[in-house]
Amino acid sequence: MPRIHVLDKATADKIAAGEVVERPSSVVKEFVENALDAGAKKITVEITDGGKSYIRVADDGCGIVREDVRVAFKSHATSKISTADDLSAIGTLGFRGEALASIAAVSRVELLTCAEGESVGTLYRIEGGEDSEPEDAGCPVGTTLVVRDLFYNVPARLKFLKKDTQEGNYIASVLERIAVSHPSVAFRFIRDSKPVFSTAGDGSLKAAVYAVFGREFTSQLLAVDGESNGVRVFGYTVKPIFCKGSRAMQMFYVNGRFVKSTLLLSALEAAYKNSVMVGRFPACVLFLTLPPETVDVNVHPAKTEVRLYDERRVFDAVYGAVQSALVADTSRPQAAFNPAKAFAPAPEKGEQLHVSQITPAPNLPTADNTARFTVKEYGAPQSGTEDTFRRPSSPEEGKQLDFLEDEYNTPNVATLKVTFHDETAAAPEQAPQQTAPEPPAAPEAEFRLLGEAFKTYLIVEQKNKLMLIDKHAAHERILFEKFRAEQHSSSQMLLQPVTVTLSADEYAAVTENLPLLSDAGYDVSDFGDRTVKVSACPPELAGEDLTELITEIASYLVNNVRTVMPEKLDWIYHSMACRAAVKAGNNTPPQEMEHFVRELLARDDIRTCPHGRPVIVELSRADLERMFRRTV
Ligand SMILES: Nc1ncnc2c1ncn2[C@@H]1O[C@H](COP(=O)(O)OP(=O)(O)OP(=O)(O)O)[C@@H](O)[C@H]1O
Ligand SMILES: [Mg+2]
Repeated sequence: MPRIHVLDKATADKIAAGEVVERPSSVVKEFVENALDAGAKKITVEITDGGKSYIRVADDGCGIVREDVRVAFKSHATSKISTADDLSAIGTLGFRGEALASIAAVSRVELLTCAEGESVGTLYRIEGGEDSEPEDAGCPVGTTLVVRDLFYNVPARLKFLKKDTQEGNYIASVLERIAVSHPSVAFRFIRDSKPVFSTAGDGSLKAAVYAVFGREFTSQLLAVDGESNGVRVFGYTVKPIFCKGSRAMQMFYVNGRFVKSTLLLSALEAAYKNSVMVGRFPACVLFLTLPPETVDVNVHPAKTEVRLYDERRVFDAVYGAVQSALVADTSRPQAAFNPAKAFAPAPEKGEQLHVSQITPAPNLPTADNTARFTVKEYGAPQSGTEDTFRRPSSPEEGKQLDFLEDEYNTPNVATLKVTFHDETAAAPEQAPQQTAPEPPAAPEAEFRLLGEAFKTYLIVEQKNKLMLIDKHAAHERILFEKFRAEQHSSSQMLLQPVTVTLSADEYAAVTENLPLLSDAGYDVSDFGDRTVKVSACPPELAGEDLTELITEIASYLVNNVRTVMPEKLDWIYHSMACRAAVKAGNNTPPQEMEHFVRELLARDDIRTCPHGRPVIVELSRADLERMFRRTV
């Protein structure tokens, strides 16, 4: 790394100034970013009391040479940029030369470092501006920074901090975000002497996401990889069915830096339009690579806001990449049944298991098809917990389990018994307990409609699976797509035109939007005196209560004056589809059901209703066999 120097005043003045150290998590963020800039491959973060009393960040990066140690803690001292011109294309996470100086001003800092090529390391202490002479100390190449008693000399700020747990959680989320964005770096996070997560640093993004966010979240993801106009977008996004109750799990990175951006989140959410429920939000871990000169990171002192110079291009790239990932996914939600889980005691709230060692290695054949994992957990060790994994059937899949082997010594170690089961072993012909001959499965693409449950769910058998179809949701989606595809081509004259009297606002909104209504298949005209006349409507709506429908549309138009046209039209199609679709609870004649299932199964673009609810849930024959203990 180049030597550290104090920036000239003109450059320093161009840097977005402001509070660098707001809370313990800011210290962790700054230290970890410095470690990454120093080329570290292993970073360990340890905190106690939410970081208020103790924070330690150790790295194996390039270290700091003895003569630079004091300079590093000066304001505007950096090795990362030299002139104001460098600000236009920043390739490192740090560039202001502010972090160490600001942290040392409000805490007791200890630095232990050894630079490559130096025979002995350096120990240096600095407390609220008072410092010690750098002295010799033995240490490997790299840097360890310890911060004690943050804000000990600024009681007003100390008072402002939240409870230890909350501050600790802020630190955890800072680290989670950084760890997933640097899969080639092995991170370890220890909180109040307990390990929270560790990543393998083997370069696999999926492995890093798994190590940080766990198995469940990882299993909900779809891979994204696209490029348009020089903007590459890759990473993972969640299947629509697993959208979350908040935006907390939307993680965007621009050139490796975690950023908050309304532009990016609107591009993401636009791609999920019409397949996610109201109040649900997609989660993602998405990385954007764009030319550094098209991004300005020098906007805000916390560096989490960026200015993107070509917003349209970036929006389109994110939208396009996510949309293709969603279109490519033809999987359906599975009616999951995990016997081991169902019969095991429910885990304590907040309890997490971390698989740390697999013995024997998962690709070794074992007599009873099981392997023992060593597990560390937060709470008391609980041996013998069972879980089910599929035996890796390809080297690639085997690799996915390998990263779990990351050994990590902790006192809380328990054993997790894992049962492997092969998909093939689950096939009926191999089932050892099988007695009666199985009825032949329906031929490929053919299906059998077995019936309807609760006048709501159609039960269908196809190949080796059972499907439950929510008839209303499915029909609603089919109609919605039909309305959208046809636009104003289909409309039916009413024998008896309907007049609808509206409030003044609604009347104005409807009469201003007559062309929009005609696009939607309605012939509506101004009848005067706050009344409109409906003379034609889409044939599917002919039997519906048009007064109610028009009033509903009118009230939407009043409340969404600024909404763009295509979105208004979509909303109208939604409301029409919802009304015209068969209702749950209604009797549906068998032929109609049959016809409907045929249409549905022929289209793999129909996965959710326009509100994002699933349309089909599958239960595989293999799962059923396991459920009835025909196979293990
Ligand atoms: N862990 C580390 N390993 C090696 N060098 C480090 C480390 N931490 C800090 N440094 C050196 O100290 C300098 C000052 O660090 P500091 O974090 O204050 O500023 P910066 O990273 O350059 O900019 P910013 O204020 O934006 O973080 C860095 O430029 C770097 O040269
Ligand atoms: Mg820094």
